[in-house]
Amino acid sequence: MWLSELEADRLRNLKAVSLGLSAGLTLVVGRNGQGKTSLLESIYLLATGSSFRTRRLDDLINWNDGPLRIGGKVEGLHGNRRLGVVLDGDARRLLVDGAERDLDDFLGRLDVVDLNGERMKVLRGGPDERRRFLDRGIVGLKPSFLKSLGEYRRVVQQRNALLREGAYSGRATLGAELDVWDERLVLAATEVHRRRREYAVGLSGELGEICRALVPDRGELLLRYQPSPAAAATDDPAEFPRIYAEAVARGRGKDRAVRHTCCGPHRDDLTVELNGVDLRRFGSAGQVRAGMIALKFGKLMMLQKDRGEAPLFLMDDFDSDLDEVRASALAGFLQEGGFQALVATSKENMASRLGVSCTRIRMDDGVASAA
Ligand SMILES: Nc1ncnc2c1ncn2[C@@H]1O[C@H](COP(=O)(O)OP(=O)(O)OP(=O)(O)O)[C@@H](O)[C@H]1O
Ligand SMILES: [Mg+2]
Repeated sequence: MWLSELEADRLRNLKAVSLGLSAGLTLVVGRNGQGKTSLLESIYLLATGSSFRTRRLDDLINWNDGPLRIGGKVEGLHGNRRLGVVLDGDARRLLVDGAERDLDDFLGRLDVVDLNGERMKVLRGGPDERRRFLDRGIVGLKPSFLKSLGEYRRVVQQRNALLREGAYSGRATLGAELDVWDERLVLAATEVHRRRREYAVGLSGELGEICRALVPDRGELLLRYQPSPAAAATDDPAEFPRIYAEAVARGRGKDRAVRHTCCGPHRDDLTVELNGVDLRRFGSAGQVRAGMIALKFGKLMMLQKDRGEAPLFLMDDFDSDLDEVRASALAGFLQEGGFQALVATSKENMASRLGVSCTRIRMDDGVASAA
């Protein structure tokens, strides 16, 4: 699918932007502070109803007051659709072909994969960032996974509340009550574990080809799901309920002492290694960025296989931390990829330096023009 038209007004410094977009690679150029990231953010907002920079939607509205309006035409296998987002103060309206929809009904009409500075936290930050990365990818493919995650979170919270209460009240029935919760815990955890494992295996299967294209000096990127409990990292996913139930039973004494549930999918992690180096701990800025780009392309490939058409790819600060060899390999990949990509850079002459032919949009004080 691709976004063929975009209108954006009053998102941060954007002013009455109205653009026809090409289906291939577009470079968004302009000096610092001119509105490049804001333009990408407007597309992300149109796809998801939220921002990749902030949870506070009112930060997006122009300081001189809203309402903020984004509109666009999506073309794809399922025909053409007009999407719209209006933010006015705290109120958000989501529109499909002019009719207002709730978020559930709005999502999934424009699939995007985005890469911006914030996303480097997936490799630089703690395990919670990597769990979020996995979960967002799974939800993109199967929105019903949100329910499975919610159920698991609820069970863990309620079991933790029981562990706390039981410790204070010295309740005689605590053991029997925990038995009941442990059964629910294993059931809910099994679904989360199964989906995360499946997604990680699928993603890691995509990385070989991507790395050959992106890391020409033969980088080998390995991704491994590290489930909690560690003993669940077996080849057979069907073993998980038994292994987890045993770990929970064995850990009950410790759980009671510390008053929370010590093991389970809420402690999962991912390892990402480039040529044997753990990027989470030892990756250089450029290695982390190359690793993150590969993970995002893997996500894009998985969405493409699932949907039968490619999502739109948004990338901010295209060449930051990348050397010339990697930047031009990436540009080649974007040009040949067969998906729509909008890529921002502050370097005007980037396209000619990298030898790619692409459409260019120039941002200047919030105004977009063909360059
Ligand atoms: N709510 C807002 N209202 C008006 N202007 C805003 C708002 N939020 C941010 N801005 C301004 O919008 C401008 C564009 O920001 P943006 O991040 O899009 O720039 P950019 O072109 O990506 O710059 P850089 O090259 O530094 O990344 C900045 O000058 C910023 O201060
Ligand atoms: Mg920017």
